[in-house]
Amino acid sequence: MQMTLPQALEAAVRGQTLVKLVLSAPQADETGAAEQHPTRYTIRSVQLKDRLLLQWTARTGSQEIHENLTLKESLARVDAIFPLTYREANLLTTEADSQFRSRNGIMVKARQKSNQRVAPPIAHNRTKNYLIPEGQPCPFLEAIGVMTPDGRVKASMTHKFHQINRFLELVNDILPHLPAEGPIRVVDFGSGKSYLTFALHHLLVGVQQREVEILAIDQNAEVIDTCRGLCERLQLTGIEFAAQSISSVEQSESVHLAVALHACDGATDQALAQAVRWKSDVILAVPCCQHEVARSIESAPLELLLRHGILKERFAALATDALRAAALDTAGYKTQILEFIDLDHTPKNLLIRAVKRREGEASATTSTAYAELKAHLGLATLATDQIQPGGCL
Ligand SMILES: C[S@@+](CC[C@H](N)C(=O)[O-])C[C@H]1O[C@@H](n2cnc3c(N)ncnc32)[C@H](O)[C@@H]1O
Repeated sequence: MQMTLPQALEAAVRGQTLVKLVLSAPQADETGAAEQHPTRYTIRSVQLKDRLLLQWTARTGSQEIHENLTLKESLARVDAIFPLTYREANLLTTEADSQFRSRNGIMVKARQKSNQRVAPPIAHNRTKNYLIPEGQPCPFLEAIGVMTPDGRVKASMTHKFHQINRFLELVNDILPHLPAEGPIRVVDFGSGKSYLTFALHHLLVGVQQREVEILAIDQNAEVIDTCRGLCERLQLTGIEFAAQSISSVEQSESVHLAVALHACDGATDQALAQAVRWKSDVILAVPCCQHEVARSIESAPLELLLRHGILKERFAALATDALRAAALDTAGYKTQILEFIDLDHTPKNLLIRAVKRREGEASATTSTAYAELKAHLGLATLATDQIQPGGCL
C-alpha cells in the first residue's frame, strides 16, 4: 500500500533521510484570496540543543518566517493543510523525490524518482548555530549579494556573513531589554548599504515576529536611494530611510534600540549623543576610525608610548572608547566593551553595549572621572563630550 504524505514524512524524519518537504500552490479560499497563505512552506530537520525539530520556513513574496515544530506538531499541520490548502507536495529524501497528489480523497505518492542524494547536515549544526544559517536561502542576503539563491555564502562575502550573524547574536542577547509588546523602534545611524538594517528586520520581524519601526540614517543620498529601492523590491515594511546627517535628524518619540556600526570617526559620537537624547533603551556601537584624540593627545608620562605612530593611534582609539563608555555611564547606561568579531584585528573589533540602568542602579563612572582622564591626556573639548548629560550636538 502507498504511504500518505504524513506517513512518508514521518518515515523520512525517523530514518534521517529527509532533505526537505515543500508544500506549494496554495488554493484560493471561499473569498478567492490565495495570497493570505504563504506561497510555500519548506520543511527541514533542525537540531536545537538536544532536540530534533522540524523547521518550517513560510515564504510570502520575498519575506520568510521561520518556526520550529516537533514531529508530532508537524504531522498534524501537514494533515491539516494538505491537500486542503496546498495542492502540491514534494518530498525530497536521500533515496527518492516523491510528488504527492490526491487519489479518491487520499493523498498518495503520484511520482517517485530514485536518487542517491547525501543527507544535508541538520540546519543548525551547519554554521555555529548562526541566526541566519548557511545553506538556507535568505532573501535579503541574496538581494545584497552575500548569498546565492540556493543559500550558499559567496566566498568573497564570508566575512560580511559572519559579521552580520555576530551582530544579530548581539542584538538577540539584548532582546530582554526591549519592550515585550508593541512595535520596537530602532535607529540605524550611518546605515550605509543597510546590510545591518535589513538584518535587524530579518531578526525582529522574520524570526521574532515583532512589529518594527526602523529608521536608517545616512548622509549619502545615493546609497539611501539604492536601499529604499531594495527595501521595496524585498517588500519589507516598517523601514524608513533618511538621507541626512546624524545630528540633523529630529525624532519625536523615544527609541528602543540604537545601533551605529562603523560610522566614521566623530559620526559614532554624534550617534551616541542622539541615542541618549532619544532615550534609547539599548545602544550598540562599533566605532570606526578615530582621529580626533590621536591629533590632540599630549601627556609627558606617556611619551614613550606616544612617540610611536601605530601605538599612538591604537592608544588614542582605546582612550576614545573609554571616554565614550564613561560618558554613556554618566548619561544613565550600564556600559560594557565587548569584542565584536575576532576575525577583524583592527580597532574596529570593539563593540560598546549600553543598556539603560534601572532606577536605583548606581553609575560606574562620575563626570569628574571623565574630566580627569581627559586632563591626564591633555585633551580639551572633544566629540565625546556631547554624549554626556547636557552635552551639545
Ligand atoms: C563604513 S559605512 C558603515 C555602514 C553600515 N553601518 C555597516 O556597518 O555596514 C559608514 C557610513 O556612515 C555614513 N556617515 C558617516 N558620517 C555620517 C554622518 N555624520 N551622518 C550620517 N551618515 C554618516 C557614511 O555615509 C557611510 O555610509
